[in-house]
Amino acid sequence: MLDNDEFRSALSQFATGVTVITTLDDEGQPHSMTANAFSSICLDPPTVMVCIAHGTHTFGYLEKTGRFGVNILNREQQDLGAYFAKKPENRTEDLEYHYSKAENGVPILDGSMVFFGCEVLGAHVYGDHTIYVGEVKEMRQNESGAPLMFFASRWYNPSEE
Ligand SMILES: Cc1cc2nc3c(=O)[nH]c(=O)nc-3n(C[C@H](O)[C@H](O)[C@H](O)COP(=O)(O)O)c2cc1C
Repeated sequence: MLDNDEFRSALSQFATGVTVITTLDDEGQPHSMTANAFSSICLDPPTVMVCIAHGTHTFGYLEKTGRFGVNILNREQQDLGAYFAKKPENRTEDLEYHYSKAENGVPILDGSMVFFGCEVLGAHVYGDHTIYVGEVKEMRQNESGAPLMFFASRWYNPSEE
């Protein structure tokens, strides 16, 4: 049997970028959550995957709408990464951010490095998470900057090590 804490700690040694997954809530309003369980799958068809916990609002919205956005954060967006990692009722800071709308209606978090607008192609349930495979229908790239990163349960800036 694996020890839970040791397993979590070992997983945290995998340095990742940080995304914000955007969906539409039950009123059709933009909803965002921070996620780093994101990966590319293949180029043809253009597919990516995200892994979403069943306890999140995002899970419910994604199940209903079948579409989502992936917004890759840059280093200047750490506050937004922390903000969207909170439950909506705890998002009390007065942060400024704006959304645009993708062709399929999914919200784009303005100022992110990259946006992928996705339609769910497949879903696979494992325990308390679902892995969503999304076909990328739309893509936007801003000028390349430095990415926001996460490592060992903290925001991480390699140039500060
Ligand atoms: C760096 C970081 C990465 C995260 N990655 C994920 C993830 O990949 N999947 C997930 O379900 N939750 C992830 N979370 C937790 C969600 O952001 C958090 O549960 C959030 O409150 C969910 O928002 P919602 O319930 O409004 O959808 C992550 C949190 C942090 C700080």
